[in-house]
Amino acid sequence: MRSLARTATAVLLGAAFPAGALAQAPPSPPGDAQVKARVEALLGQMTLEEKVGQLNQIAGGLFPGVKPEEALRKGAAGSILWLNDTRKFNELQRVAVEESRLRIPVLYGLDVIHGYRTIFPVPLAMAASWDPSVHERAAAVAAREARAAGIHWTFAPMVDVARDARWGRIVEGAGEDPYLGAAMAAAQVRGFQGPYLGAPERLLACAKHFGAYGAAEGGRDYDPVYVPEGQLRNVYFPPFRAAVVAGVGSFMSAYMDLNDVPAGGNRWLLHDVLKEEWGFPGFVVSDAMGVGNLVIMGFAKDRGDAARRALAAGLDMEMASGAFPEHLARLVREGSLPMAQIDDAVRRVLAVKVRLGLFERPYADEARVASVLADPAHRAEARLAAQRSMVLLRNERKTLPLAKTVASLAVIGPLADSRADTEGSWMVFGHVPAAVTVLEGLRAKLPGAKIAHAPGPEIRRQVPSMFDQFMPGPKKPAQSGEQAEAAFQQAVETAKGKDVVIAVMGELANMSGEAASRASLDLPGRQEELLKALVALGKPVVLVLLNGRPLSVNWAAENVPAILEAWQPGTEGGNAVADVLFGDAAPGGKLPVTFPRSAGHAPLYYARNLTHSPEGSSMHNVRYWDGAPTPLYPFGYGLSYTSFSFSNLKVGAPPVKVGASATVSVDVTNTGALAGEEVVQLYVHQKAGSDSRPSRELKGFRRVGLKPGETQTVSFPLGPDELRYWSTSQGKWVQDAAAFDVWVGSDSTATLHANLEVLP
Ligand code: NOJ
Repeated sequence: MRSLARTATAVLLGAAFPAGALAQAPPSPPGDAQVKARVEALLGQMTLEEKVGQLNQIAGGLFPGVKPEEALRKGAAGSILWLNDTRKFNELQRVAVEESRLRIPVLYGLDVIHGYRTIFPVPLAMAASWDPSVHERAAAVAAREARAAGIHWTFAPMVDVARDARWGRIVEGAGEDPYLGAAMAAAQVRGFQGPYLGAPERLLACAKHFGAYGAAEGGRDYDPVYVPEGQLRNVYFPPFRAAVVAGVGSFMSAYMDLNDVPAGGNRWLLHDVLKEEWGFPGFVVSDAMGVGNLVIMGFAKDRGDAARRALAAGLDMEMASGAFPEHLARLVREGSLPMAQIDDAVRRVLAVKVRLGLFERPYADEARVASVLADPAHRAEARLAAQRSMVLLRNERKTLPLAKTVASLAVIGPLADSRADTEGSWMVFGHVPAAVTVLEGLRAKLPGAKIAHAPGPEIRRQVPSMFDQFMPGPKKPAQSGEQAEAAFQQAVETAKGKDVVIAVMGELANMSGEAASRASLDLPGRQEELLKALVALGKPVVLVLLNGRPLSVNWAAENVPAILEAWQPGTEGGNAVADVLFGDAAPGGKLPVTFPRSAGHAPLYYARNLTHSPEGSSMHNVRYWDGAPTPLYPFGYGLSYTSFSFSNLKVGAPPVKVGASATVSVDVTNTGALAGEEVVQLYVHQKAGSDSRPSRELKGFRRVGLKPGETQTVSFPLGPDELRYWSTSQGKWVQDAAAFDVWVGSDSTATLHANLEVLP
């Protein structure tokens, strides 16, 4: 430890590190006994204040008056967030490992959500790839860059199932489905953490926000959640459980009330389910200010009460609100909090630090950061991920792919040339957008073509975002009505006479994300009006959507010949859009969320239970009298430049008994003239049993690439893992002996059907 500290000083003075002290040095994972011995040895030396210090995460610079050095020197802080500065990381780390009594390294956490310098598509888009391997690689790149810069811990993946498109944070997760969500959660944990906690060039991951944050009433961020246990266990928990199984090292509790008990003070949630039932060995951090907030929420009577109840509920580390350092030691001394509870939390935090190798390698190698961030392989991976995440929503008369011989293009819309909006949400902590916009991507693709651009009227939030203050660059004043009208006319003029019009529209990055819920799902501002004027010009129009949530693009869905859902596609987004529009990449993504026709339909999701009067069966069974209640685009939907057929659906190995598995197989054939990719999706419905079950549930998927005329047989297991569920009537997990419908196809409305009988 001493020599390590001397090395660090040398480095800070400009000398080189010996390899052993650097973050990228290859460690081998310590065994459990080794970790335990080290943790116990430390714990035995710690004062009560030092223990509490490890449970305190402080802000590293965002707020004036915060002095991390002092806290670290006293051993009064175990972790720092909201700091993104490699030199400062090393400086502060030196204080922790050289100047504090026990020399425990500090853990640096930051929101590395969909990339650090190379930005990947937003998580909702990554889920639209239906390709967990691409999401895993994206997380690995993010980890490599962030770790090189000195970050140890990302507050990701966000694995909240979200079924209400109004909720802004739908952009951060994998959408509405627990099965797809679980696959994406596990993939991200593998990508961030690597083969083991502490693997070189990886991060500690954090599954958040536990749990059911996505079910906020009315889609209003932070509002209470009322979800019965059956729904929690069958719908909202599976991605969290998958993260635990994948070895995630930390969890973050959610802000909101869950069935009248705030998640951060909810012992059933954090202790009984997460730690006891699932055996989660890592630690739980609160969300920012989450402990102090327990007072504001009307749950705790004061900050001391909040600290005591949060810790007792199973929350191990407090993020930024300062109630733990203010009160925990006093509460222990008074006898109102057992020392054993403090010790359990400290053990969990220390064990993660040991496993991460921070004691051996506390510093970042400043000389290496720039080259890691500039690695061209990262951008290649981001371009591939963006291509794979795009969803072709409409393609009348084979408008797409466009021919590269096109002589002139108009690229219209407020998002066509905006780097920050192309990269998308969460770019708050000192990130400089390096994105290729759609306009730039098209210019690079077609250097010989005449490409004109006009943004049209600006779009902006009616209520500013709390994150705007962190975004670089001058803040523009709002356009006047006259300026907007001039911009509208200019956009139409620009489009006139061009061979093809590409309209790049949707939402600004700050229109989804935290505190970014909406009461409407329409295209904001005058975009639809502009789209109508562009279509009226009579030239082919392609709508490229950049957005972080489902949008009710009803008019476009009937009147614009081609629509490509590109989401917020990240640094390489513009190149990837150009690749897909011109057929250099085949669109094969599928919607991970239902697109409702109106915000009034939210929450709308495919896996709803049946009712006594099935929809459409007679006049009085119409769900709404003022329009179709069906989705604009269903879950799992997405077109291709080629066509696919499904045949030969078989459910093998009957009779199947409870506990045994059947094999479902199907042939998928590329029946078109181009190579393409299809996502084969398996859905089941249990016809009767202990409880009513959803009319359909996804239970398998595979993305396959096929040449024209090629057929592939795809098979899926269907057994207890897929068929069991938490039964409300029985209060436990069950697998019923029951009859099942089985469908396989290209989206959640698949019609190719087979039966499965599960016998007792
Ligand atoms: C609040 C957000 O809810 C959470 O997702 C994030 O990780 C923390 N702030 C830290 O930035």
